[in-house]
Amino acid sequence: MCGIVGVLGDHEAAPLLVEALKRLEYRGYDSAGIATVNEAGRLDRRRAVGKLVNLSDLLVHEPLSGRAGIGHTRWATHGAATRENAHPHRAGRVAVVHNGIIENFRALRAELAEDGIEADSETDTEVVALLAARHLEQGMTPDEAVTATLERLEGAFALCFLFEGEGDLLIAARKGSPLAIGHGEGEMFVGSDAIALAPMTERITYLEEGDRAVISRAGAQIFDADGRRVNREMREVRLDAARIGKAGYRHFMAKEIAEQPAVIGDVLSAYIASDGSAVSLPLEGLDFRNISRLTLVACGTAHIACLAAKYWFERYARLPVEVDIASEFRYREAPIPPGTVALFVSQSGETADTLAALRYAQGKADKTVSLVNVPESSIARESDIAVPILAGAEISVASTKAFTCQLTTFALMALHAARQRGELDRAGLAAQLADLRRLPGLMSHALAIEDALREVARELAEARDVLFLGRGQMYPLALEGALKLKEISYIHAEGYPAGELKHGPIALIDKATPTVVLAPHDGLLDKTVSNMQEVMARGGPVLLITDSRAAESAAEGAWAQITLPEAPEFVQPILYALPVQMLAYHAALALGKDVDQPRNLAKSVTVE
Ligand code: G6P
Repeated sequence: MCGIVGVLGDHEAAPLLVEALKRLEYRGYDSAGIATVNEAGRLDRRRAVGKLVNLSDLLVHEPLSGRAGIGHTRWATHGAATRENAHPHRAGRVAVVHNGIIENFRALRAELAEDGIEADSETDTEVVALLAARHLEQGMTPDEAVTATLERLEGAFALCFLFEGEGDLLIAARKGSPLAIGHGEGEMFVGSDAIALAPMTERITYLEEGDRAVISRAGAQIFDADGRRVNREMREVRLDAARIGKAGYRHFMAKEIAEQPAVIGDVLSAYIASDGSAVSLPLEGLDFRNISRLTLVACGTAHIACLAAKYWFERYARLPVEVDIASEFRYREAPIPPGTVALFVSQSGETADTLAALRYAQGKADKTVSLVNVPESSIARESDIAVPILAGAEISVASTKAFTCQLTTFALMALHAARQRGELDRAGLAAQLADLRRLPGLMSHALAIEDALREVARELAEARDVLFLGRGQMYPLALEGALKLKEISYIHAEGYPAGELKHGPIALIDKATPTVVLAPHDGLLDKTVSNMQEVMARGGPVLLITDSRAAESAAEGAWAQITLPEAPEFVQPILYALPVQMLAYHAALALGKDVDQPRNLAKSVTVE
């Protein structure tokens, strides 16, 4: 969480800092701030509570000049969203921005207090500025002061320092939180990710664990955790402007929902052999015949993708699957018996709990595999095998296209496993792959029902509580529907396996509590329809999301019905992601909520 940025520019830094922060706002938006060093060497800062627009407004009235600067957008961990707690934090001649958590900040604060140095904020970050300022006072150079400060810090951080009187110096450091350095023409940049720097440069160097970079306009000198000068590769990161802008859509979420037929098409073309006969995922060294168990671990929507994958792996590849939430898995000391492959799913590839769970599994599991959207991320780099899900930049906090790309990659992997384990013959595999190839077309049809969904979403938005039900492979989709709705509309929602209804949630049913039932034509349709009848018998309004084939037998008595195109059973979970995403989107719009930046959430959760 939190986005950080640094600029050593040719022109005024403030507009560039704000532009970069705009692209990092998905990481948090509790407050924002920038600091600059002006031509006279003076260090100054501006900070504002709330979204970036408040900082922009402040800068109109109280501009900051200078070609060197740092900036921050905050997701609060220590201390409320106030101006005092907003970054950059400043002490004496130094200002700093931070992403991560300094775990020993209380001890460091107490030590500083003994020397009569008091903090102004409640943050963990301020001690970093205070320590560095004290070292500068003691006569150290900026680099010596930062090095001595870093030695004292425990926890996770990406940091960027700016110094009074130093208009051509930034010092950046990384431990546990990602950090990228951008190379311009006589300009240098620092950012939490390459997207932030995209308007300035596409030439990026990623810092590695423990690295410190001393940056001037002439370039960056990078030192590893042992203080040795090292070379880190510079790469061209092509970030298509259309993929990181809104492309005419009102929200990133709307754009990302609409992109799904295209990105799923990309996944299928990348990972199905050109003759359509085999899966071509980058899984070198992984043989599913030698595996007795698959452990899938993730957080949030990525965790729900794992739950959906369990149905595919168990049913088609006959491979037992265990699914876990990363924050539970990492501390449970789960035994990992031989024959286990541990697989971690993360859009960002930086989620702290998922990364820690991966590190726990290393050396215990036969292999660690990751499904990530950001190929340069920590989780991708640290796993034995990293499979990109190819969704392209996902900006909206609520995950949509990354979810369906995770599902599609999983579906292909399950088929590959089924074939390797002899559970699927050549013709069977070809048939399933042909079904998957129909997905982009089916999804385009599903997107066309948006008008009908908008109407029902308006009514749904009046509810205080909503239940989502699904059976079998539709159960994880019920969870995802509920999660999306709560995330962006703040309506309380629960996802349940339809068969579990009578063991508790049925007590919630009344005429003011709608139930969304996901029931395509599949082997369990009749059972789901019975559960739906149980809801309606108690006066509960039902929104049925189904297909044309099931609609005839299932729809009677429902308050509303959304009909999707009929799809092969294997691909239904991927297709049914679309209506639940659109439902949440339009409910949030009807309520006037901030769809792309829901309260209290952040996209990349780099703290525990
Ligand atoms: C946050 C986001 C979710 C996301 C989850 C896991 O909670 O708001 O959309 O699913 O983190 O993130 P990851 O990057 O690991 O997939």
